[in-house]
Amino acid sequence: MQLRKENILIVDDDVNILELLQRHLQSWNYHVFKAISVKEAVTILRDTKIDLLITDLKMPEIDGFELIKFVSEHYPNLPKLVVTGYPSVQDSLSVIKSGVVDYLTKPFTKDELKAALDKTLTTSEKKAIQPVQSYKKDKAYGDIIGNSEKINDVIQVIERVKNNKATVFIKGESGTGKELVARAIHYQGKFARAPFIVVNCGGIPENLLEAELFGYNKGAFTGAETNRDGYFQAANGGTIFLDEIGNASLAVQSRLLRVLQEKEVVKVGAQKADKIDVRIIAATHSNLRDMITKQIFREDLFYRLTVVEIDVAPLRERKEDISLLVDKFLFTYGIEYKDRFLKITPEALTVLERYDWPGNIRELENIIQRAVIMCDKIIDVEHLPEHLKYSLNLSSETLQPLKVIEKQYIEKVLRATDNNKTKAAEILGIDRKTIRQKLSQ
Ligand SMILES: Nc1ncnc2c1ncn2[C@@H]1O[C@H](COP(=O)(O)OP(=O)(O)OP(=O)(O)O)[C@@H](O)[C@H]1O
Ligand SMILES: [Mg+2]
Repeated sequence: MQLRKENILIVDDDVNILELLQRHLQSWNYHVFKAISVKEAVTILRDTKIDLLITDLKMPEIDGFELIKFVSEHYPNLPKLVVTGYPSVQDSLSVIKSGVVDYLTKPFTKDELKAALDKTLTTSEKKAIQPVQSYKKDKAYGDIIGNSEKINDVIQVIERVKNNKATVFIKGESGTGKELVARAIHYQGKFARAPFIVVNCGGIPENLLEAELFGYNKGAFTGAETNRDGYFQAANGGTIFLDEIGNASLAVQSRLLRVLQEKEVVKVGAQKADKIDVRIIAATHSNLRDMITKQIFREDLFYRLTVVEIDVAPLRERKEDISLLVDKFLFTYGIEYKDRFLKITPEALTVLERYDWPGNIRELENIIQRAVIMCDKIIDVEHLPEHLKYSLNLSSETLQPLKVIEKQYIEKVLRATDNNKTKAAEILGIDRKTIRQKLSQ
């Protein structure tokens, strides 16, 4: 059986509907992911590349409308199909407004489902294909845009590691695309269908991180009422991305060391270790070598984590990528907010190319997003924030003493008059002797 390339996520609190949808979709060879709540759906969306979302509207806790809003913001190109048992004019209106292509009412026949599915998939394909002509898609690797030497070097390393489970360490300033690189390693390689789990070690309170990462046994601490798996167990067979690894406590670090050395995890409160097969990708924008000197990061762990190192360069060191990135963001946000592809003037692009981007690609993305909102067709200098323009004025021109400027101007006038000093003196409003004096000074 040849699987189709599309991954379809179905969300419904009614397991019978989930199973019915799954049966139909699988009979057409689609790969199906099931979620019984919006919460589960969001986890799947984060970890898997989904090509179509089919969702119910009325669900307990968080409903389908919230999910559609979330998806429209986070995955603007993901086609959506609504299947619901409670159609009302109001529902239909809000769903259509939120960009859902089609709407199917329960109970439905297999043929009706097929028709809605085909319509949703083809409409969204058309929508995506049309403006791509002006967006240089061939300059992308997965979601990574760029054609500079620095980005090509990164892509070379990704190519080398994507099909094995070597530990990878990604460093780079904030907003340079570290997470994007981690995702590319996972999704471009042969383990792409296995889980990709992101853990922000800086976002989980220190006392919880250990239990969250490695799981715990009943009674391990107050509140541990059952045995529970952690992120490592959830990532088994795939990749765990430990973002902001510099925030891991020494206790977490020593457990991590064991995972790397022995390929096994010990749950908090457990004696026995469980074998595990996970690729670890760690990232940070902090300087781990400094932390080693201060004895807050283990040196032995550092060396095990940095089997392969990827240094993602700041945007100011690869300015040739700016225009490609701008095209990409104009495309994404143009479609999201305006339903068309916006352009940018060469002058505005020059402003962007001269700026130093301390916030890197994230900052560039935010500025383009804002410009798209502020402008209707062509983005010009006026749509860019003042601080970018300010830096243009200063960095393009070094301020010089009057004498130097005076001499340069006299030389310019002389050139323009073919070195005729009388004519030059006339234009400058001084006599020939003064010209000679000023030039010799
Ligand atoms: N080469 C690129 N092509 C397209 N988009 C990019 C690229 N690099 C980064 N981005 C976008 O810029 C934003 C920031 O990227 P990402 O979250 O990967 O950065 P980061 O290095 O992990 O930042 P932080 O250290 O702040 O977590 C994301 O929206 C990402 O999609
Ligand atoms: Mg990040």
